[in-house]
Amino acid sequence: MLTRRAFAVAATRGLARGLSSRAARVLDALDIAGDREIPGVYDGEWHGAGDVLESVCPATGEVLARVRSASPEELHAALGRAREAYAFFRSVPAPRRGEILRQIREALAAKRDELGALVSLEMGKIRTEGVGEVQEFIDIADYAVGLSRMMNGRVVASERPGHSILEVPNPLGVVAVLSAFNFPVAVYGWNLALSLAAGNATLWKPSATTPLCSIAVTKIVSSVLERNSIPGAVAALVTGGKDVGESIVESQDVDMVSFTGSEHVGRIVGRTVQSRFGKVLLELGGNNASIIMPDADLALAVPAVFFGAVGTAGQRCTSTRRLYLHRTVAAAFLSRLQSLYAAVRPGDPLAPATLLGPLHTRAAVGVYSAAVERLRKSGAEILAGGAVCRDLAGPLGGGNYVLPTIAVPRGVDVADPIWREETFAPVLCVGVFDELEEAIGWNNGVPQGLSSSLWTRDLRNVGKWIGPAGSDAGIVNVNVGTSGAEIGAAFGGNKSTGWGRESGGDAWKQYVRWSACTINFSDEAPLAQGVQFSSTA
Ligand code: UN1
Repeated sequence: MLTRRAFAVAATRGLARGLSSRAARVLDALDIAGDREIPGVYDGEWHGAGDVLESVCPATGEVLARVRSASPEELHAALGRAREAYAFFRSVPAPRRGEILRQIREALAAKRDELGALVSLEMGKIRTEGVGEVQEFIDIADYAVGLSRMMNGRVVASERPGHSILEVPNPLGVVAVLSAFNFPVAVYGWNLALSLAAGNATLWKPSATTPLCSIAVTKIVSSVLERNSIPGAVAALVTGGKDVGESIVESQDVDMVSFTGSEHVGRIVGRTVQSRFGKVLLELGGNNASIIMPDADLALAVPAVFFGAVGTAGQRCTSTRRLYLHRTVAAAFLSRLQSLYAAVRPGDPLAPATLLGPLHTRAAVGVYSAAVERLRKSGAEILAGGAVCRDLAGPLGGGNYVLPTIAVPRGVDVADPIWREETFAPVLCVGVFDELEEAIGWNNGVPQGLSSSLWTRDLRNVGKWIGPAGSDAGIVNVNVGTSGAEIGAAFGGNKSTGWGRESGGDAWKQYVRWSACTINFSDEAPLAQGVQFSSTA
């Protein structure tokens, strides 16, 4: 934490370069200079000769910094250096790699609050969520430290005497991580931690709108690598726009692409990587539903739906976008939810009392308005919100604020785009059901399959929900909202969410190449399945 005096000095420095004191404090605490162009490429050294990316604060519209992204030559060189780094790193024993991860974890923890504030400043989520995101990186680093001693293969019984079969996890190569603006730290953390424990080099292309978070994280990670005489390109960074992303996805020098983003772009990434027989891990759209049964504890369910739909201003992949209420509780639930919506006002995400920050970009405000307009035109009743907020005082007047919206469409038709498409904004659509089976049908009736949540105390409902005829999402919660997963289980979704799994569980198994090794330690060389292939037989 910065002392009061350091804050004052930082603010003075920041003001000298024309930034608001609010922004300057956050940037200065992480040594990010806003007064000149910042190099946005790291492959052992920092440089940047490509286009300039502007980091814009969503809360005020202020330009925080200008970043020099990767030129095509720099990307090519970074891929080369990542390959060399991999050739070194793959032979470092896994527990030693774990020790480096432990140091990364410590270095992140030492800057947790500062980094969390930067996430809040640059992405727009509220400070506690920004800090929580850094905590998520710390947690997965802890997990990967343990994993570094447990990435076990297995010994398989051979049908042949004097033979053993081993399944050996070997490092994979260069893993590219293309992350989205909404989790500018944690999603990279999930990938880096597993990839590093597995012995790979990682090349990170963050969202073009959150370069500062990636630079701050890479500074922390690279200082640990350098201190341990590990090539910096084990955790390379290339900031840039669409061109840089496309070149990475097409490059034969990238063994696996881990992509988080829209279904539209994910489809292109998936096809492109597949066409060159690379590995691909996709984490795409979510269109997540909460289902409220008559026996649900509303004191728990209402705030959970509120957090799921309004938290991060509806910009999590896991945000609650659909709410299915049993007819018997619909009125009571909605009136309690409306009271929470009525009390929430958008504000500065860095201010402790704020629950609702801005949308990340101006364009997102347009997407929100179009979604609300479409709902209105289709005859939906707007119970809360439904408007852009332009009346914030002072510098916040330049931010991208909207009111969180509850809409009750005329009915539930999962073939209708209102229900089928993910709108990355705080818009919640409500439907009323009579039978659980009907609600599960609606839950499953959309293309996406990331997260889902059922609220009930009845064990029979739980069994149905988590079983073969239940939710087809990757995350199937009970009395827990759709968002805010811990790192321990594999994170990801099915169907058009892309089937990828990151973070915990067995996700690490994707970051290695598996070698099936049959070893003959006998004096005979029998063939499997009893095949005879000798003329004397
Ligand atoms: C995302 O929105 O891409 O479960 C990731 C959650 C967070 C991760 C979200 N732990 O909401």
